[in-house]
Amino acid sequence: MNTKPFLTLGIETSCDETAAAVVADGTRILSNVIASQVDLHQRFGGVVPEIAARKHIEAVFPVIDKALDDAGTTLTEIGLIAVTYGPGLVGALLVGLQAAKSLAFALGKPLVGINHIEGHIYANVLANPELKPPFVCLTASGGHTDLLYVPEFGRYEVLGRTRDDAAGEAFDKIARVLGLPYPGGPQISRLAETGNREAISFPRGLGNENTFDFSFSGLKTAALNYINHARQTGAEINLEDFAASYQWAIVDVLAAKLIRAAQFQRVSQVILSGGVAANRSLRHETAQLAKALKIEVCFPPPELCTDNAAMIGSAGHFKHLAGHAHGWDLNAVPQLQLA
Ligand code: KG4
Ligand code: ZN
Repeated sequence: MNTKPFLTLGIETSCDETAAAVVADGTRILSNVIASQVDLHQRFGGVVPEIAARKHIEAVFPVIDKALDDAGTTLTEIGLIAVTYGPGLVGALLVGLQAAKSLAFALGKPLVGINHIEGHIYANVLANPELKPPFVCLTASGGHTDLLYVPEFGRYEVLGRTRDDAAGEAFDKIARVLGLPYPGGPQISRLAETGNREAISFPRGLGNENTFDFSFSGLKTAALNYINHARQTGAEINLEDFAASYQWAIVDVLAAKLIRAAQFQRVSQVILSGGVAANRSLRHETAQLAKALKIEVCFPPPELCTDNAAMIGSAGHFKHLAGHAHGWDLNAVPQLQLA
């Protein structure tokens, strides 16, 4: 029997990407459109919330239109509308929410609000539709660094999280001090490719302590001191070595704690998600540690690690199947928690 696929329109506007995607049966990406505002925010060295919201309002319908076009479908064929409702910038979230609610209302389609972090986890379902819990998941982005035990989809137990900066923030802040463009993670990662990660010994925040929490503020201070000292004494900073050592101080702790958490929970799978999961060194190091212990590692392709709407569409599909739905009172929750 040839049943028609169930199509979900995913919408994501939590930060500085206006994104829409059409996902079939929660696992097949028919289109994935992202209008990035990075160029606009670059001269400010970070995302300016009001500019982000204003740009979303211009871009959201053209992006949705393109997502439908690219998928070769129309709104009438869409079975579900899924939208990020938090965490994120309130003004930015409201734009995507209002677009999603208007469409769902006008078309009489079901609506489901998605937690952005849960969306990042579902990027792994798109990459590997066979993925089944239990697993331990590291979600590391510009705003979050959480180590989660996932006994089943929809249930998330926090094993640890950052006590200060998020991992992506740690990349972005130091990149900014070095005069590298926003976002800094990919820039540091690129420079690190040819650097020596042992060149500078940076501290591992909470690295050896008996906790699954993270801390990157000590590392940031050490890196700032290193840069300031070099600037004051006129010493040249070898950017490649600096980037490799700094990245290694972050990756070392993230990968080690993720694998330790998997052993602690006695699971044989770990997954990486969020923008920082695009980092090659983190992917490589996690895979190396896991291999020795016969733990499987899953991570999405880099373009699904960073913000996109396909992950929101996938999460929406499975939430809908599990009976979740939101009403017309769905609002933005900037500090939305997963667990
Ligand atoms: O998930 P995401 O796209 O947006 C948020 O939800 O925050 O993550 C963005 C973060 C930024 O901090 C960015 O610098 C970081 O992910 N990032 C990376 C890499 N690509 C993106 N960090 C390290 N290495 C990368 N290759
Ligand atoms: Zn994100």
